[in-house]
Amino acid sequence: MLQTVFVTALTLVSALALALVYGLGGFYALRGQLDPGSVVAMAMLLTRLYAPLTALASARMDVMSALVSFERVFEILDLTPLIREIPDAKPVPDGPVAVEVRDVGFAYPSADKVSLASLEEVAVLDSRGGETVLHDVSFRVEPGEMVALVGSSGAGKSTIAQLIPRLYDVDTGTVLLSDTDVRTLTADSIRATVGLVTQDGHLFHDTVRGNLLLARPEATEEQVWDALRRARLDELIRSLPTGLDTVVGERGYRLSGGERQRLTIARLLLAQPRVVILDEATAHLDSTSEAAVQEALTEALAARTSIVIAHRLSTIRAADQILVVEAGRIVERGGHQELLAAGGRYAELYRTQFADSGPKSSANMPILQP
Ligand SMILES: Nc1ncnc2c1ncn2[C@@H]1O[C@H](COP(=O)(O)OP(=O)(O)O)[C@@H](O)[C@H]1O
Ligand SMILES: [Mg+2]
Repeated sequence: MLQTVFVTALTLVSALALALVYGLGGFYALRGQLDPGSVVAMAMLLTRLYAPLTALASARMDVMSALVSFERVFEILDLTPLIREIPDAKPVPDGPVAVEVRDVGFAYPSADKVSLASLEEVAVLDSRGGETVLHDVSFRVEPGEMVALVGSSGAGKSTIAQLIPRLYDVDTGTVLLSDTDVRTLTADSIRATVGLVTQDGHLFHDTVRGNLLLARPEATEEQVWDALRRARLDELIRSLPTGLDTVVGERGYRLSGGERQRLTIARLLLAQPRVVILDEATAHLDSTSEAAVQEALTEALAARTSIVIAHRLSTIRAADQILVVEAGRIVERGGHQELLAAGGRYAELYRTQFADSGPKSSANMPILQP
C-alpha cells in the first residue's frame, strides 16, 4: 500500500511539474522571452529526474520487505526444538540392543506449541494434538527378538514406533535402549542405532546415490549396489540413463510408491542399524515384489532387535511376541497360537483379515491394516 501511494504521488508530482514547464515555458517562448529549445531541454531533464526518484522509492520498499523476511527467518532460527539433548548425553552402549517401553503415556503436542506465530495467521492448523493417544504402554524386546504390533487403524502403532528413536518425548513413563533412558542418549547415536522404515519413506531432492549414502556416508560403490540388489531395485536403477546419479525429485515424486519404498528399504539394508522398526514398510509393494523384498528384509532382520507393524501373516507368525494395540493400549500379548486359542481381539482380527487366505498363499495376503 505504501508503495502504491508513493508511486502514485511521485507520478502526479512529475506530471504536474511537466505541465508547468510546458505551460509556463510555452507562454514565455511565445512572447519571445525564452528560447523554445530551452523549454524542451528543461522538460527532458525533468523526465530524466523522475526515473532515479522512482528507483529510490522502490529501493525503500525492497529494504522493507527484506526486513519482514528476515523477521520470519529469525523466527524459525529462534524456535527451540522440542527434543533437546542433555549436556552430558552418552552414546548408546555397544553390543546388542534391547528396546523397552515402560508405562508410557503420550499425547502429540498441540499445534500452537509447535507452529510459528506468523504462520498461524495464514495456515489452518492441525487441531488433533493434545489428546492422549497412548495409555500405559509397556513391553520389552530382548536383543535379537522380533515383536509384531497389530491393531486397527489409528490404534497408536505408528506413534509407538516414533517414540523409540525419540522423534517425540513421552509424557509419562520411559523409553529405554539397552536399559538406558533415550533422553540421556546422544541424538546421533540413537539415529545410528535405530532404523525406521515408514509407510511413506522420505527421500530428499537429491540423486539416488545421495539418498542412499545418507544412511552410511562411507559406503563403497559395491555396498550401494549390493543394498539395491537386495531391495530388488538394481535393475531399475541400471536401466535409468544416469543410473545412480538420477535425481529423484522433491520427496521422490519421480519414483512410484513401490520404488520409493524399495529405495528406503535399500537405505535400511545399507545402514544395518542394530534396531530395525518397520512401519508397514511393504504396504506399497505389489505381491511379487513384496515377496522378494520380504526375503531381503528377513535377511536384514535376522539376529537384529526388531519391531514390525501390520504385516502379512507369515511375518506375524515368525514374531517372538505379538502385541495387539487398540485405542492406545496393549490389549493382548503372546504368540500366534496362544492368542488364537484365547479367542480375543487377535482371533477376531485374524478371522476378518485372513479368513480366506491360508498360510501357503501368504504372498497375496492382505495386509492387516488397509
Ligand atoms: N502428528 C499428529 N498429531 C496429532 N495426532 C496424531 C498425529 N499423528 C497421529 N495422531 C493421532 O494419534 C492416533 C494414533 O495414530 P497412529 O499411531 O498413526 O495409528 P496407527 O499407526 O495405529 O494407525 C490417531 O488417533 C491419530 O489421529
Ligand atoms: Mg500407522
